[in-house]
Amino acid sequence: MPPTLRFVLCGSVDDGKSTLIGRILYDCRQVFTDQMARVVEDSRRYGTQGDATDLALLMDGLQDEREQGITIDVAYRGFETPRRRFIVADAPGHEQYTRNMATGASTADLAVVMTDVRKGVLPQTARHTRIAAMFGVRHVVLAVNKMDLAGWDRDAFEEIASAYREVAAEIGVAEVTAIPVSALTGGNLTRSSGEAPWYTGPTLLRHLETVDVGRGADDEPFRMPVQYVNRPNPDFRGYCGRIAAGRVAPGDHVRISPAGTPAEVESIVVWQGIRDSAGQGDSVTLTLKPDVDVSRGDVIVAADSPLEAADQFQARIVWMGDEPLTVGRPYRLKLHTQEVGATVTRIRHRVDVSDGSLLAASHLELNDLGVINLATNRAVPFAPFDDSRGLGGFILIDRATNATVGAGTINFALMRAANVKWQDFDITGEVRADLKRQRARCLWLTGLSASGKSTVANMLERRLVIEGHHTYLLDGDNVRHGLNRDLGFTEADRVENIRRVAEVSRLMVDAGLIVIVSFISPFQSERDFARGLFEPDDFMEIFVDASVEACARRDPKGLYARAMQGEIRNFTGVDSPYERPERPDLRLDTEKLSPEECVELVMRSFD
Ligand code: ADX
Repeated sequence: MPPTLRFVLCGSVDDGKSTLIGRILYDCRQVFTDQMARVVEDSRRYGTQGDATDLALLMDGLQDEREQGITIDVAYRGFETPRRRFIVADAPGHEQYTRNMATGASTADLAVVMTDVRKGVLPQTARHTRIAAMFGVRHVVLAVNKMDLAGWDRDAFEEIASAYREVAAEIGVAEVTAIPVSALTGGNLTRSSGEAPWYTGPTLLRHLETVDVGRGADDEPFRMPVQYVNRPNPDFRGYCGRIAAGRVAPGDHVRISPAGTPAEVESIVVWQGIRDSAGQGDSVTLTLKPDVDVSRGDVIVAADSPLEAADQFQARIVWMGDEPLTVGRPYRLKLHTQEVGATVTRIRHRVDVSDGSLLAASHLELNDLGVINLATNRAVPFAPFDDSRGLGGFILIDRATNATVGAGTINFALMRAANVKWQDFDITGEVRADLKRQRARCLWLTGLSASGKSTVANMLERRLVIEGHHTYLLDGDNVRHGLNRDLGFTEADRVENIRRVAEVSRLMVDAGLIVIVSFISPFQSERDFARGLFEPDDFMEIFVDASVEACARRDPKGLYARAMQGEIRNFTGVDSPYERPERPDLRLDTEKLSPEECVELVMRSFD
């Protein structure tokens, strides 16, 4: 039996999609709810570890989100015929549901794109094809439906088929099979239509049963991302994962990417026992000799075909977050079994999903498709998505909400950053701080405008200097006069504002100084980013807390009054949000405490 075929069905209710799938299932005598339960159960049982491991990795991430309650509206149904098993992803075809389609396509080998013979190739037909292609679908069936309503007119069919072939070729889909069907009468779905003797090709079902989607080519080099290190007792250490490409057998020479450590495959263990070899898609546990250092996220690869590792990429992305994609904001990135901090460093352009045209964009909104530059916090082993779905597909996760906000595919690594190495010098931050007889650190004050940050910061610095410390004070208003004079108060500008200041304060701490930062810094994810730049004890998040009402009453610069009149836009606390720190190291309630008392509290927690 050929391997299970996963396909995604693209089209709208109007195109007759539900009728088509209902008809096929009916003709195959399948009760799909039961069937689906079985598929899910099977993948739990036969998968390697954890949840839904039988699905491709990109999907795993999205699957997590489904379980976390993010609405990704895709129905998966399993059915089978004597010839093959199928899993069909059914995504609503509505324009706004790009993310559903992307999810459905991300695990599919083939897409069935539906059109209505009376309507021809519509913008949505191209849109579906473009998303399917972006997520690695190389085989498309164009089901030209409602042929019964067009009297099974051959010319009408041929015209649509050839118009679609042009669109598909432009998008980069090489293989298109066009089939005239009638979902209503069942013509050419599971049995040939007597009304169209001119059509000599296969029925839709026959095509799906026999199509070779060319997965698992054995001549590809071996790659297996390590999902889990299994060490049940001191005598056994196995590396579990799903083979992303190629084959493996005991005695094969491999390397551990990215370290490059050589080893030899000792045995292949599966839940039923020991195997002589395994190939793409198999979930296995490998034991290696000698005992080398391997951890989750590493990739075991054929020794003569190493994998690239990089920390800068060009990628395509479908934005799935309710909040727009913001350049510079720290996200978490999941790429095969790796998880790493990442930021989008640039939006190169937005892609119009209907016609493929490239548009300038400063941000991407829900369901937008774009091309971006991406930077990860450390180098990760990967392959371009076109070479390997499993090693080149990723998702972005919001650090604060844990929601999947983007699904993307790596085009290639940007070598620029890989060529810039970190230089180690003899004089370290510790030496510089020792010379000043202090421990360098960053005291980060966050709070609304007029909450009292500058007053506390000023008094705090005086106190530190009187006690003989070496300090610097970075203040929002002042830094915005120079280094950050190009930034305003949009969300993206504030993110960049804080990123720069966090980096500057890191340099200053490395210079041996005690740095006081006094910025509104309204977003938790940027404050977390700043914290992440320091050793745990070298960073203090200090929440200077006063209610908006109190700040507006104080209003030393008259800004609240102007913001409330609508003269200043995006004013924090008025029409731009302030995210209260979730777990500050210290909270200073300036409605209750005097500035002196606040400074005292900081000094007390300081030592
Ligand atoms: S942040 O949000 O990006 O951290 P930052 O601390 O640099 O802000 O700058 C805040 C200062 O800019 C405020 O104290 C205020 O004097 C001034 N300001 C001018 N416009 C705004 C605005 N729309 N929102 C907040 N602060 C503003």
